[in-house]
Amino acid sequence: MTTLYDKYGGFATVSKLVQTFYAKVAESEELAPYFSGINMQRLMDHQTKFFSEILGGPVTYTGNELKIVHAAMTITPKAFAEVADLLEEALEDMNIGDDDIETIMEIVDGLKSDIISSDNK
Ligand code: HEM
Repeated sequence: MTTLYDKYGGFATVSKLVQTFYAKVAESEELAPYFSGINMQRLMDHQTKFFSEILGGPVTYTGNELKIVHAAMTITPKAFAEVADLLEEALEDMNIGDDDIETIMEIVDGLKSDIISSDNK
């Protein structure tokens, strides 16, 4: 079976996706405080590997567990939803098919409990 990674052009596509996604995150006033002082080059490198892996590519993410990475950030459900929306927009910009976007967003939704660490709305 062809993986989503191969279907859409492999590493180059994932790399472009992550860049498109972070350009949107960088413009979001709500998200800016979470990302201030972060080494974005390193973050995008990790994200590219992470998304390559979840799309079935031959690339392994070797960073820390998502729960550990995000634990101290007090990420609200609203901030999570904003990040998920921007990711969905980036997938649409990249002309990923609707069914495949749905599959990817279901995977991302499944990560919610590892990432949200604040009850604040
Ligand atoms: C939507 C699902 C999300 C996924 C799949 C995800 C994934 C990741 C990954 C793979 C890293 C790199 C970790 C490493 O250093 O190895 C990371 C770091 C980070 N994430 Fe997320 N993340 C998500 C949501 C969020 C949200 C909602 C926020 C904030 C509102 C956030 C803020 C950050 C920040 C600030 C870092 C950088 C940490 C650092 O370098 O010190 N993430 N994320």
